[in-house]
Amino acid sequence: MDHPVHEWWLTDGGCLPVHDTEETGGLRILVAGATGYLGRHIVRELNDRGHHVRALARSPARLEPLRAAAEEVFTADATDRTALAGCCDGVDVVVSTVGLVGKGGRQTCWDVDYGANRNLLDEAERAGVARFVYVSVVRAPALEKLQLVRAKRAFEQALRNSGMAHAVLLPNGYFSDFDAYLDMARKGRVFLFGDGGFRINPVDGADVAAAAADAVTGDADEVEIGGPDVLTHEQIAHQAFQALGTTPRITHVPAWLLASALALMRRLTPLRVHGVLEFPLTVLTHDVLSPATGQRHLADHYGQAAAGPAG
Ligand SMILES: NC(=O)c1ccc[n+]([C@@H]2O[C@H](COP(=O)([O-])OP(=O)(O)OC[C@H]3O[C@@H](n4cnc5c(N)ncnc54)[C@H](OP(=O)(O)O)[C@@H]3O)[C@@H](O)[C@H]2O)c1
Repeated sequence: MDHPVHEWWLTDGGCLPVHDTEETGGLRILVAGATGYLGRHIVRELNDRGHHVRALARSPARLEPLRAAAEEVFTADATDRTALAGCCDGVDVVVSTVGLVGKGGRQTCWDVDYGANRNLLDEAERAGVARFVYVSVVRAPALEKLQLVRAKRAFEQALRNSGMAHAVLLPNGYFSDFDAYLDMARKGRVFLFGDGGFRINPVDGADVAAAAADAVTGDADEVEIGGPDVLTHEQIAHQAFQALGTTPRITHVPAWLLASALALMRRLTPLRVHGVLEFPLTVLTHDVLSPATGQRHLADHYGQAAAGPAG
């Protein structure tokens, strides 16, 4: 993208705007969750479209690969309201991908998927931000009762109630999550629950980022996003072996074992642990389908990943 190079600001609890929207016509956009898989795609996509990105991150060092794409950095943990003060000053649009994905910690999904996004929304309202784009998750009957999804739906509701112009993105599982199949295939064996027949249409982060960038300037309230191919988990496992050029070795684990493990986990572990684990484990044993809006194919992603260094 041909627009003037700006200074790289590393601020702690404050941020100095360096915009030139008149020159490029781009919007000033805060991307929260910029260090994540999707966040990185979104920062690059917005920069490519001529927008000015302020990246919100807990660990700015993790933004180093985005140095050319993000003009500013605002350092804060989004669950800390005080630390967020000023993060939206001078910003036209907020895009948030902040959420707990697959890893537990001290925080629960209610602290992060609801609470952190609620803090961002409050700060956006205070600063007079015009639009809030929130990356939530696919709607699927089996997922709606899970704590993580309930926390996200609660934030979606808060966003609707706020009266701020907004878009809620409802993407299916990202390719990054399906790298687990490639990792297992590299080790020689893929484990599947049940007969591996449950279906999903995973989507590339680049396709979700394009939808998020469209939502920044569009007027849709809600955007469902899925990859172009509806695949069973068995087919996904075969694609992983095919990309590596190795013989498929698949072990089917009885689905009831997973159901029992989940029930036990909910009883024996705190919400901060089972709240993040029950989501991916539930996806393995249910159909999770979205409109096929994405362009990129999982087989091509596996082909590229298999050709690169083992992860
Ligand atoms: N992965 C999927 O298949 C999938 C599918 C549908 C929807 N989603 C949703 O899409 C969003 C992005 O997913 P992803 O796969 O890109 O996840 P990811 O790689 O784990 O990224 C999550 C981002 O949120 C940030 N974050 C977490 N807690 C934070 C906090 N307290 N304060 C500030 N930032 C915080 C993380 O920062 P750090 O780098 O500091 O941890 C990271 O930048 C999530 O909300 C997820 O639920 C994911």
